[in-house]
Amino acid sequence: MAKGTWLPVRGAEGLHSRQAHADLPEGTYEREVSKEGFFGPAAFLYHRRPPTGWVSFEGPLRPRAFDLNALNEANPSPWNAPVVLHNRALEVRFWKLSTAMGDLARNADGDQLLFIHQGAGVLFCDYGRLAYRAGDYLYLPRGTMWRLRPDEATSVLTIEATNTHYTLPDRGLLGPHALFDPSMLDTPKMDEAFKAHQAEDGLHRVQIKKRGQVSIAAFPYNPLDAVGWHGELAPVRLNVKDIRPVVSARYHLPPSAHTTFLSDRFVVCTFTPRPFETDPGAIKIPFFHNNDDYDEVLFYHAGDFFSRDHIEAGMMTFHPSGFTHGPHPKALKKMLVQDKAATDEYAVMIDARDPLDVGDGASAVENHAYVDSWKNPG
Ligand SMILES: [Fe+2]
Repeated sequence: MAKGTWLPVRGAEGLHSRQAHADLPEGTYEREVSKEGFFGPAAFLYHRRPPTGWVSFEGPLRPRAFDLNALNEANPSPWNAPVVLHNRALEVRFWKLSTAMGDLARNADGDQLLFIHQGAGVLFCDYGRLAYRAGDYLYLPRGTMWRLRPDEATSVLTIEATNTHYTLPDRGLLGPHALFDPSMLDTPKMDEAFKAHQAEDGLHRVQIKKRGQVSIAAFPYNPLDAVGWHGELAPVRLNVKDIRPVVSARYHLPPSAHTTFLSDRFVVCTFTPRPFETDPGAIKIPFFHNNDDYDEVLFYHAGDFFSRDHIEAGMMTFHPSGFTHGPHPKALKKMLVQDKAATDEYAVMIDARDPLDVGDGASAVENHAYVDSWKNPG
């Protein structure tokens, strides 16, 4: 099919800034309306009032918040963990486990990302052994056999790239070693502890998930019995503390600047502590925006979540596309002047190109008052 071009609009009317996110006309609030996340054409409108100044909000389009801390521990298989959000390209679960996985797991549905929210322990997989701790991303290529053995009670945000892969974003002008050096990606080791694990006799079951259903292959030995490997594909580990975010002193960068992993129909971004902008005219908080093409999910991992009220670690917010959002009233007061030098937040953002459905797990722990959290407390 022929490829189109965006409609050739280059307009400006009334009071406006010429530079997005900076030098707003006095007393105005900027709202960005954009195509394809922050990569397509966009418009910046300057409003007299915060664009989230509703006094009531009814109907099925609404922002959601879920306290995932309140979910129960499932039996120790990732395939029993409650589904939080899902669509054809993406499945997010929240999984608590405090005991070792008895069975191995294998995801035949897609590449898997495990974000370790709390806890510490060890990952055993086809390729060897990797220790994990809070803040780690563990990337598991589709089909890898693996199990976790927690040393501390562990909770995990699992993010499946259904029927496809994870890749890394092109770092463009920043060069290939920005954000995190590829050398920071750790791969499993076939060390003595792995060999001891390999030698564990007895029946080993592998829970294979395919099209959402679990099949079980049982082996009379531990099938993690490879004695070596080489190649360009393996599980990797990256801790959020090893991400060095790009910032600008003069311009509030869009969330896409914090992209960590890409899939075909969604991206995973990581917000880590970073200095606030110092230019007097630059806004210092997320701008109001529609982001009409993406459903936005934020999982709050640790720290002080500077743009949101009443949000604590372990909670998740879900802003479906079409819902205008931006900072909460308390944060908005600091739009141009912050009282701290830097943010102190760790959060994982999942931006999905297709609408997401809320799973039973999330429905059970929903905060129904979340839509009211933008109301000005006065
Ligand atoms: Fe957003």
